[in-house]
Amino acid sequence: MSAQIIDGKAIAAEVRGEVAAKVAELKSKGITPCLAVILIGENPASVSYVTGKRKALAEVGMEDRSLTLPESTSEEELLKIIAELNADKSVHGILVQLPLPRHINEDKVIMAIAPEKDVDGFHPVNVGNMMIGRPGFLPCTPHGIIVLLEKMGIETSGKHAVVIGRSNIVGKPVSILLARKETNCTVTICHTGTKNMAEITRQADILVVASGHPHTLKGDMVKQGAVVIDVGVNRIPDASKKSGFRLIGDADFDDLQDVASFITPVPGGVGPMTIAMLIANTLQSASGEF
Ligand code: GUN
Repeated sequence: MSAQIIDGKAIAAEVRGEVAAKVAELKSKGITPCLAVILIGENPASVSYVTGKRKALAEVGMEDRSLTLPESTSEEELLKIIAELNADKSVHGILVQLPLPRHINEDKVIMAIAPEKDVDGFHPVNVGNMMIGRPGFLPCTPHGIIVLLEKMGIETSGKHAVVIGRSNIVGKPVSILLARKETNCTVTICHTGTKNMAEITRQADILVVASGHPHTLKGDMVKQGAVVIDVGVNRIPDASKKSGFRLIGDADFDDLQDVASFITPVPGGVGPMTIAMLIANTLQSASGEF
């Protein structure tokens, strides 16, 4: 049987619709949720992500205070801009698009964002709060994955979830969220040091693939009926496309079609959810929830 496609695009649109209604409500009380997305340089993937984020802001009626800065921007200049946005009461969220140019220390930048405006959920205060189940901003991609599972009605309690990848943005936090009482999975993390990865992935009921490499997960690595969540976004040259490339995931979609019970497509799976959760976090911030 063919896998059911998890339509992240449609689910993200539903989430944005819910957010838009609450934005209208807040606006009637005189509060306009406002996000500043900071993009440095012209990394094509980052430009594309930031464009998507700004489009979503406009769609739900939020204020967009985004800044596009040249590659030559110094760390000092960036930290000054962040300090100004931290102090500005009309700004509810600050996001600095990663990766940053090599001359800027990513850690210093993340640490500079006020935790109560860190809608990416990358600041150690928010990471710590997530870890111990206190209120705070959840990181957007991992939270989006949990919402996808919920909205699809996929049972998670007692299931074995295998996560491929241990990044701070996806692998580590999604492992924590999957293991929380509410989700109740038993979690295994695979990474570049894992021996016999296929042996482990074949035990998974739910697979989250965030390896950062195209087609890491093949059909013969997956148990029949497993759920596959593909976080990968890889640009592959494709002369038949106007852009000259197409996007493929970290999972081999075609190879998994007859193996998985549910699978996210790339594009149109996890990606739109990341943006939807960012918008939801900005709303939470403007509502003064934290
Ligand atoms: N680069 C890739 N994903 C993300 C993300 O979720 N947030 C930020 N700030 N940068 C990213």
